[in-house]
Amino acid sequence: MNSMSDKTFHIETLGCQMNERDSETIAGMLIQSGYVPVRDCLAPGMDADCSLDTLRRAADLIVVNTCSVRENADNRFFGILGQLKRYKNENPETLVAIGGCMMQQEHIVERIRQTFSWVDIVFGTHSIHELPLLLSNARTERVRQISVPDDGGEIVEGLPSKRVYPFKAFVNITFGCNNFCTYCIVPYTRGRERSRSPESIYNEVTELCRDGVKEITLLGQNVNSYLSESCLGQHVDFPGLIHMLDTVPGLSRLRFMTSHPKDLSEGLIRAFSECRSLCPSIHLPVQAGSSRVLTRMNRGYTKETYLSLVSRLRAEKPDIVLTTDLIVGFPGETDVDFEDTMDVIAQARFDAAFTFMFSPRQGTPAANYSDQVPDEIKRERFSRMVDAQNAISLEKNKACVGRIEPVLIEGESKTDKTALAGRTAGGKLVNIRQDAPELPGAVLQPARAGNSLDACIGQILDVRLLEANTFSFTGRFV
Ligand code: SAM
Ligand code: SF4
Ligand code: F3S
Repeated sequence: MNSMSDKTFHIETLGCQMNERDSETIAGMLIQSGYVPVRDCLAPGMDADCSLDTLRRAADLIVVNTCSVRENADNRFFGILGQLKRYKNENPETLVAIGGCMMQQEHIVERIRQTFSWVDIVFGTHSIHELPLLLSNARTERVRQISVPDDGGEIVEGLPSKRVYPFKAFVNITFGCNNFCTYCIVPYTRGRERSRSPESIYNEVTELCRDGVKEITLLGQNVNSYLSESCLGQHVDFPGLIHMLDTVPGLSRLRFMTSHPKDLSEGLIRAFSECRSLCPSIHLPVQAGSSRVLTRMNRGYTKETYLSLVSRLRAEKPDIVLTTDLIVGFPGETDVDFEDTMDVIAQARFDAAFTFMFSPRQGTPAANYSDQVPDEIKRERFSRMVDAQNAISLEKNKACVGRIEPVLIEGESKTDKTALAGRTAGGKLVNIRQDAPELPGAVLQPARAGNSLDACIGQILDVRLLEANTFSFTGRFV
């Protein structure tokens, strides 16, 4: 039970899994500093109405963890910052702290300094561990605190965490990126690549599994270039790390992201059939189909080498779920280049794709290329690309109908409060409803005897896939 004097916090996280993981660390440090999550302190009844407005109004500290990967992420943050002024005016004692990838950019920090007087603390991705100190200084000195070191970022081990889920967890294996794809801001916001030691990763995974976690997702901008020395002086690469973690008791599902095609090794491909816990899924961003564009993006592979990796993966693991990232409208992309992207979509037959229009990022080489593609052409290509990929996703999902799949049940479905949602080993989303119509000829199953729906959360249970949509399935427990 929280005392009335507890200070409360609320965190808003934008961006990718790196930021989600960082927000868990931020929450852990704040709790260790005596703060409590604002949701835990709302009066009975109010927690049912956990609107953003309620949470922001009730919090003593609002943290925004920002992303800068595309222009719309920046714009979203500045929109939030505008809204936060109102809460600060209503309650001047509320502290506003902003961190994340945007704060590692000088021109953004300068804009905050000049324009947004209601921001109390600014911290970058390299100074997350300093937040408790910055917070205490902001409270006592009542002066704005800014810490955005450009030191490349040390790995700080042993920080506390407030994990979002008890049954699945993200575990960082590398930080930063050395690849400098010409469109991407991440190497500038996250610094050079650093790999954690295999022992730290092994111990973290072991501890999580001891606490009941069943699924681990290893995180890095390019997990394939993981390389570290063990305390015995042995070099451990990414396939070696996967083999090590495969021995952790209680680990049912091991995933990773993101995998860079230029560093995808034969050893990793073989791990899909050698390691019992490694899930049959891989996110392998291709970005573009034209080898000319890929060279200008500095990706380090061609259309042909990418497609041969896809064939090799499918030869090793025929049911592997393959997803990707695609960008249209990179500077200089011609109609012929774009047709190469459409051709890769047709040949690779991805299960799903995250699709983006190129967004120029200040400080990256591609933002200054003189041959920018007009927005109208980007939009037209984008819509053709999305239509083509969605048709393939639906076809591939329809081909799975009737299968029985083990599904890790994650909680209530976002689209239907009476249904549960979970993911197959391949990572596909399934909404589970016991009243979903069975397939002709199947034996009807009653609702799970003696099991409330809540008791299923966190378990891996067999589900029959009954209906396929583009992004999900409907299924029933078997
Ligand atoms: N490290 C991963 C990789 O190599 O694919 C992911 C990095 S990034 C956080 C996620 C995706 O955002 C990228 O794969 C790319 O498709 C997209 N992206 C990055 N910069 C972009 C830009 N300037 N415009 C549009 N999309 C971008
Ligand atoms: Fe960005 Fe490329 Fe690094 Fe991925 S590999 S984070 S796209 S620079
Ligand atoms: Fe992730 Fe956005 Fe940073 S995508 S690494 S939070 S720029």
